[in-house]
Amino acid sequence: MTYSIAIDGPAGAGKSTIAKKIAKELGFIYVDTGAMYRAMTYFFVTEHIKKEDAGAMGRLCENADISIKYQNGEQQVFLNGENVTPYLRTEEVGNLASVVATNGDVRRKLVELQQKLAKSENVVMDGRDIGTCVLPHADLKVYLTASPKTRAARRFKELTEKNILCNIEEIENDIIDRDKRDMEREISPLRQAEDAVLVDSSDMGVEEVVSYILQLFMERK
Ligand code: DC
Repeated sequence: MTYSIAIDGPAGAGKSTIAKKIAKELGFIYVDTGAMYRAMTYFFVTEHIKKEDAGAMGRLCENADISIKYQNGEQQVFLNGENVTPYLRTEEVGNLASVVATNGDVRRKLVELQQKLAKSENVVMDGRDIGTCVLPHADLKVYLTASPKTRAARRFKELTEKNILCNIEEIENDIIDRDKRDMEREISPLRQAEDAVLVDSSDMGVEEVVSYILQLFMERK
C-alpha cells in the first residue's frame, strides 16, 4: 500500500514549493505533473506544431516518451531520452502548456503515467486535477490558492531575483488568463475536489502552510 497527498490549485499558488517540502519531511517522492504538461508542450514546439492544431497534438503525443527520474531528490523530466528539465520553466512554455493541457489525448497519456507512479511510490503530487481525477482516493487532498495579486507579486519577485525583466501587470494578466483556461476547459478543469481542504496562502508563510498540511496528513493517515 502507498500513501498519496494531492495538492491542486491555480498557477503561482506555491504548490511546488510546499509540495517539495512536505515530500522531503515525509520521505515521499514529489511529482510535479505540470512539468509533464510542459515537457509535452516543449515537444510540440520542437515539432513546430501550432497551438490551434489539436488533431496533430492528439496524434503526435504518442511519439513523446515522457519519463521521470530523480537526481539528488529533484525531479528530472526526460523527453525521448533527453533531460529537458532546464527548458520547462519559461513563461512561454507555461502559457502554452495551459493550451496543450486542454487536449484529451495528451491528458489521457499523462494521467496514466501519473497513476502508475503513485501505485509504486508514496507521493506528494501537485497539479490541477490530482484530487478530482488522477488520485480520487488520495489520503489527503489540498486545494492551495492565493489571490491573483499575491501570486503575481510572488512570480515577479522570483523573476526579478533571476534578473529577468518583467512587468507585474502583465504577469497578473497572464495568471488571470491561465486560471480561466484551466478552470473553464472541458476535460478535468481545475476545481476543488469535494473532499479537499481549502488553504488560502495569501497571508500565510511557507512554513506555516507546510506544517498545517503535515498536521492534516497525520490526522488522516
Ligand atoms: O503547474 P504548471 O504551471 O507547471 O502547469 C502548466 C500547465 O499545465 C498549467 O497551465 C495547467 C496544466 N496542468 C494541468 O492541466 N493538469 C495538471 N495536473 C498539471 C498542470
